Amino acid sequence: MRTQVGIIGAGPAGLLLSHLLHLRGIESVVIETRSREEIEATLRAGVLEQGTVDLLNESGVGERMRREGMPHEGIILRFSGQSHRIHLSELTRGRSITVYAQHEVIRDLVKARLDAGGQIRFGVKDVSLLDLDTQLPKLRFHDDEGAVRELACDYIAGCDGFHGVSRPSIPSRMRREYTRVYPFGWFGILLEAPPATEELIYAYHERGFALVSTRSPEIQRLYLQCHPSDETGNWPDVRIWEELHARLAGSDGWRLAEGRIFQKGVIAMRSFVVEPMRYGRLFLAGDAAHIVPPTGAKGLNLAVADVRVLAQALAAFYASGRADLLERYSETALKRVWRAEHFSWWMTSMLHRFHDESPFHHRLQLSQLQYVAGSRAAATMLAENYVGLPFEEA
Ligand code: FAD
Ligand code: DHB
Repeated sequence: MRTQVGIIGAGPAGLLLSHLLHLRGIESVVIETRSREEIEATLRAGVLEQGTVDLLNESGVGERMRREGMPHEGIILRFSGQSHRIHLSELTRGRSITVYAQHEVIRDLVKARLDAGGQIRFGVKDVSLLDLDTQLPKLRFHDDEGAVRELACDYIAGCDGFHGVSRPSIPSRMRREYTRVYPFGWFGILLEAPPATEELIYAYHERGFALVSTRSPEIQRLYLQCHPSDETGNWPDVRIWEELHARLAGSDGWRLAEGRIFQKGVIAMRSFVVEPMRYGRLFLAGDAAHIVPPTGAKGLNLAVADVRVLAQALAAFYASGRADLLERYSETALKRVWRAEHFSWWMTSMLHRFHDESPFHHRLQLSQLQYVAGSRAAATMLAENYVGLPFEEA
């Protein structure tokens, strides 16, 4: 088998890359270990930056998102029992975010690829990457019937997430990794209830962080800070509600509406970057190259930004033989990656309780929150990072 670009992983990065390449007449094959049903049912991110929304619209896969997605022009910071609105749109000359679940983006992209005759091989096993430092790299894998396949490619895109095989296929002496693990996780729930608030609430409380998000007029998404090795069994519904009510309590009379909880899960928090995001003819994109803690809602958006740059670079190569954009891919992508790493770390540090925290640290966090809520300059810094900085042209 032969293709122009071999793509490992049918997450947002791999599927969108395949779609953007197709629009430019470049052929690709996506290989994915899980089934279509599994990738379309995995619950993850919910917040799309303005640039992500624009790119999905411009590339013709935004129709359902425009109908079902929920644009938000602000977010709420809640601390010391009061809500403070950050007016995202006013502070960023009209930019906003859209709440539209990641698995809906996945469904739209899978459909677009399959409708266009695109190749996605689901249920593959034992993927290995070969000859990465030659002109003809290859992917070897077992297909869904167990047969060994070899796919020869001009280029390989490693879009297989944090636990994939692409990054470890780069010799360790050729990569440098930067990591920070946080001493807490997020406990996430889905519940049947109408929205409790018009905008997302990021709450800081002595008992820990809480986040009120949404999915639809009937389904709500909530998170609360927990122990990193916590388990769902430790969280009966009564405890969840007790903790959420305590962390979101205020003197303004607002109260979270309860509903039937139908999904629970624990999410680990880490910051991670590998440099460079390239080795020979292998390019890494999305979580395969970097992870952010979810507080800034940046992970999915960074994956989209990476493949936007990569698709442009590959298009320039196939159109005119120019390799300079491919040469600069890692450097270009890493600029945005490090900005998002900083923002995500900053939001996380400002909004969570640290186990070794002193009363001094608590006071510093409150002071920082008051400053962000009260200063137009500080609120603008949060707003322009949260809605996503404009893409730099290559
Ligand atoms: P993935 O989505 O991880 O996709 C990788 C794919 O590769 C998977 O389908 C996997 O099965 C496949 N794969 C793995 N190994 C192999 C292999 N060996 N061979 C073939 N295929 C393989 N981000 C935001 O922007 N906004 C948010 O609001 C947000 N909230 C989040 C909330 C939660 C609870 C979590 C967990 C994450 C959140 N994120 C958020 C992060 C976001 O979900 C990820 O950054 C995003 O999924 C990255 O996309 P990706 O395509 O790089 O990787
Ligand atoms: C959601 C996830 C996030 O990480 C975040 O910062 C905001 C919202 C969500 O899943 O809705």
